[in-house]
Amino acid sequence: MNYIEVFSKIYYELEVSNDPGKVASYIPELRDVNPDKFGVHLTTIDDDHYEFGDSDEKFSIQSIAKVLALVLAYKLEGEKLWKRVGVEPSGTAFNSLVQLEYDLGIPRNPLINAGALVICDILVSKFENPKQEFIQFVRKVSDNPDIDYCSRIANSEKLAGYRNAALINLIKSFGNIKNDIDVVLDFYFNLCSIEMSCKELSRTFLFLAAYGVCPYTNEVIISVSKSKRVNAIMQLCGFYDEAGEFSFKVGLPGKSGVGGGIVAIHPNKYCIAVWSPRLNKKGNSNMGMKFLELFTTETQASIF
Ligand code: DON
Repeated sequence: MNYIEVFSKIYYELEVSNDPGKVASYIPELRDVNPDKFGVHLTTIDDDHYEFGDSDEKFSIQSIAKVLALVLAYKLEGEKLWKRVGVEPSGTAFNSLVQLEYDLGIPRNPLINAGALVICDILVSKFENPKQEFIQFVRKVSDNPDIDYCSRIANSEKLAGYRNAALINLIKSFGNIKNDIDVVLDFYFNLCSIEMSCKELSRTFLFLAAYGVCPYTNEVIISVSKSKRVNAIMQLCGFYDEAGEFSFKVGLPGKSGVGGGIVAIHPNKYCIAVWSPRLNKKGNSNMGMKFLELFTTETQASIF
């Protein structure tokens, strides 16, 4: 299939500059991104590449990084991970506090902020130097030694991170955060600050289309069973209170970030990454979601 033709057809149909979405502004450093940027990159499990637009430009991957933190924590912790975080869709916003009180500090899933903070706490407990160990893991999975945090973005979020501070304090009050709150928050903000291009993202997440094996090195990143489960969590929870909508319209497991990126996995076929910075009201890339909806419709291939 000539994916590049499909990309350009959909792109011109979408008219990105008329997108009514808004660039994330609650993290000050994200405000200045050019809202008209648009990139897409698809990598097949045979390492064929199809790209369009600003696919080589780095952006802040934000919550997409939560999946990589989950993969590492699940790999290290095994099934006892699920004592501290659930696997159910939340149906609430990514930064919502409401369920935590009812659920006694056990977040519904690892992809909402509350769940990602618990995952970060687990990684902080596991490593002497969690930031260093984590970025090394990401570089290995992506087969790219240049992937890095952006301290400017991490510090910007730290200065305005009131909700995450509230979430972690509430979870700590229930005993589900074991480490110092500031250390865990610092790790979380850095995790979210990682920068990648669409090309780097689609290469990094390809192992989830390849049953847990990194296609570049043949290294097992996680087992087949764990890879299946991570994809299932993305399908059910990757878009927060819009996860149903993404499943309904796109039909692939995926994950969004407030930097405007989305990755989606077609198991045994490809990983696709899209970037369009204007977000809809749920904090997901407006055009990114529409693009993927038209893409799976046009190519007549989804997991359903
Ligand atoms: O914690 C936050 O609010 C951000 N660092 C990440 C949120 C995010 O990307 C939500 N996804 N669409």
